[in-house]
Amino acid sequence: MAGGWLLDGQQLLMDAIMTVPYIAAMIVDKQGYVVFVNRTYLKMLKRTEKETLGKHVSEITPNSRTLEVLKTGKAIIGYYWPINGYEGVASSIPLFKKGELVGCLAYSIFLDVWDGKTLMENLVNELNVYKKEITSLYASKYTFDAIIGESQALQKVKKLACQVANHPDTTVLITGESGTGKELLAHSIHSASSRARFPFVKVNCAAIPDNLLEAELFGYGEGAYTGAKKGGKPGKFEVANGGTVFLDEVGDMSLAMQGKLLRVLQEKEMERLGDNKPIRVNVRVIAATNRNLEEMVEQGRFREDLYYRLNVVRIHMPALRHRSGDIPLLVKYLLCKLNKKLKTSVMGVSAPAMERIMKYSWPGNVRELENVLERALILAEMSGSKTITPEYLVLMNDRANASAVSFGKGLKALTEEFERQVIARVLEETDYNKMEAAIRLDIDVSSLYRKIKRYGLGIGKGAGV
Ligand SMILES: Nc1ncnc2c1ncn2[C@@H]1O[C@H](COP(=O)(O)OP(=O)(O)OP(=O)(O)O)[C@@H](O)[C@H]1O
Ligand SMILES: [Mg+2]
Repeated sequence: MAGGWLLDGQQLLMDAIMTVPYIAAMIVDKQGYVVFVNRTYLKMLKRTEKETLGKHVSEITPNSRTLEVLKTGKAIIGYYWPINGYEGVASSIPLFKKGELVGCLAYSIFLDVWDGKTLMENLVNELNVYKKEITSLYASKYTFDAIIGESQALQKVKKLACQVANHPDTTVLITGESGTGKELLAHSIHSASSRARFPFVKVNCAAIPDNLLEAELFGYGEGAYTGAKKGGKPGKFEVANGGTVFLDEVGDMSLAMQGKLLRVLQEKEMERLGDNKPIRVNVRVIAATNRNLEEMVEQGRFREDLYYRLNVVRIHMPALRHRSGDIPLLVKYLLCKLNKKLKTSVMGVSAPAMERIMKYSWPGNVRELENVLERALILAEMSGSKTITPEYLVLMNDRANASAVSFGKGLKALTEEFERQVIARVLEETDYNKMEAAIRLDIDVSSLYRKIKRYGLGIGKGAGV
């Protein structure tokens, strides 16, 4: 009884396999001659059953790996199988009788036909949308043209950066004060290099706590910790594959993380956290810092070996006060940019305002200039002025003054602060010529000396406006 039931089952299965429109199936004997083929397979082959049965598999479908399976006795699952202009994924499974190899079953689910085709197309389309999005998310935003300035110092920087862009594997270290355009330069190097069509990925080493920074850089495996995402998470080095990793504020990395970074740079290989599968790293590293790394090395706060690894090509972004010749161009460029952003229409800067801008020390460099201009633009616009005049320029010391008032300092302190500012400004304007400054201030030179000492206004002591 049981045998009868089984026989029925076998018959049903055979009928199903014979007619199922979604699977192509074929059985060959141990020499590779076709002993069974279903309708779908015949449709793919564009042959009749008569033309197929008894033929050798190599003649019927040369891309099948069935012969390999007959040789080794081991199944091959999910290999690429092109046939008659279709693309399929096939599997070949050895068939045994009493432990002896008697043939092979080959079957395929076609991705290129029926619903599979639409499914594939949809998936590919969706994938392309995400690819585009990722590329634009990580695409570098600036080219060398975005770096405004024609001073010799900046031209030197741009030339060196252009050269290093042509060496896409060379590590670059960009130094310079805050706001000098280090990030802008890193973007431009990436854009001008052969890595441009791959991602530019920034990691701010100072903003991320140490324990998270490691996962941020290297990612983590599936079982790295409870609650870790299925499939784990790729780190920035993996996301940037082919492109550039920009390590901003690299001087703020802990010594432990410095060691881990060094390993990756040396071995060009890394592992995700909690996973010991090595992953090849193909990125260019550009690091930036406004710290004095040499001093940090001396103090044991920055690893010397890492310093040498990073310092292969060093580009120093000059401070704005050392290239004040670039200021007028920058002002023009920034006004245009800000007018667009703020939908304002302030046309220019008056001569006295420009003079003040030129003489200010700009400790926050281009970023500060941009912020000051933004504020001035709003103030000018609000007063209906089409020009920025000195009263709209709120520079550092002016701010100190304003905060002194809000902190409720007494009149004496305020007067002193004002005196200090006036003297500092006149000293800057007279290039620290004390005689001339004393005359302009209408006080004795000896009195001026006393005040310079009292207010700490010697050269280089940040004597701002
Ligand atoms: N030469 C330049 N031309 C035009 N814009 C510039 C230039 N230099 C800097 N900027 C602008 O100034 C701002 C600060 O630049 P960036 O962020 O690159 O500076 P940074 O050196 O990385 O500063 P930080 O050390 O504070 O991170 C940005 O808005 C940037 O576009
Ligand atoms: Mg920066």
